[in-house]
Amino acid sequence: MDRIKTGITGLDELIQGGIPEGSTVLLAGGAGTCKTIMGTTYLYRGAKEFNEAGLYVTLETNVKNITWNMENFGWDIKPLQDKNLFKVYRLKINPNENVDMQIEAELKAIAKIVKEMGAKRLVVDSTTAFTVWLKDQGQIRSTLYNFTDGLKELGCTTILISETKGGKTDFSAFGVEEFIADAVIALYFTPPHRSIFIRKMRGTDHSKTIHPFDISGEGVTIHPKDEIMWEAIK
Ligand SMILES: Nc1ncnc2c1ncn2[C@@H]1O[C@H](COP(=O)(O)OP(=O)(O)OP(=O)(O)O)[C@@H](O)[C@H]1O
Ligand SMILES: [Mg+2]
Repeated sequence: MDRIKTGITGLDELIQGGIPEGSTVLLAGGAGTCKTIMGTTYLYRGAKEFNEAGLYVTLETNVKNITWNMENFGWDIKPLQDKNLFKVYRLKINPNENVDMQIEAELKAIAKIVKEMGAKRLVVDSTTAFTVWLKDQGQIRSTLYNFTDGLKELGCTTILISETKGGKTDFSAFGVEEFIADAVIALYFTPPHRSIFIRKMRGTDHSKTIHPFDISGEGVTIHPKDEIMWEAIK
């Protein structure tokens, strides 16, 4: 089995060297738990260190936030964009028109870019937008299920970001994402401590404990040899 190295400092050694290729990884956490930073790091390091093209699909309105973070870490993304190794795509939905049809069209647009770039890595940030587009919980679940299923067809190794209420056993916003995902990684912020927990990862052994991580001007650093007790997570 081939693995995709995340390039996130400390993470690959928790998962036997990398994510099994073609997996969909759900990255879940409350507000401000570094979901977006981990997502951009995965694509930046993939492009810079492994020469693997990556597409960042944002469902949020603030596209600037993604490049702000990257520039803040001193990453020069322009050369990667020029070489077609990194791209940001904003997925836009008009809630007043048929959402399912628009999602289908957007999946086609994403597939086209993935193909053009030869993207191996994909990040989708985040599923929370579905609450803005759709009101009915049942409809959110079925549309989100179809969307995630469609993403799987693209053949990328995908990080799907989901903002949870922040509880330690909250692994998705809508209760659908963790069923379709091959892997679930949870991020916690119990001030002042940040931590990461690999809840599941199909096809590989992985760490079963919670590990602390830091965020600084250099980016994220996970500490694989240190552990945090489950009871310490609030
Ligand atoms: N250069 C930096 N140095 C230290 N901490 C930083 C730096 N940049 C960002 N942070 C911390 O990272 C947090 C945000 O990370 P990020 O945007 O990835 O979180 P998120 O989980 O995506 O949040 P949201 O729920 O808003 O989408 C900030 O709230 C801040 O505490
Ligand atoms: Mg974010």
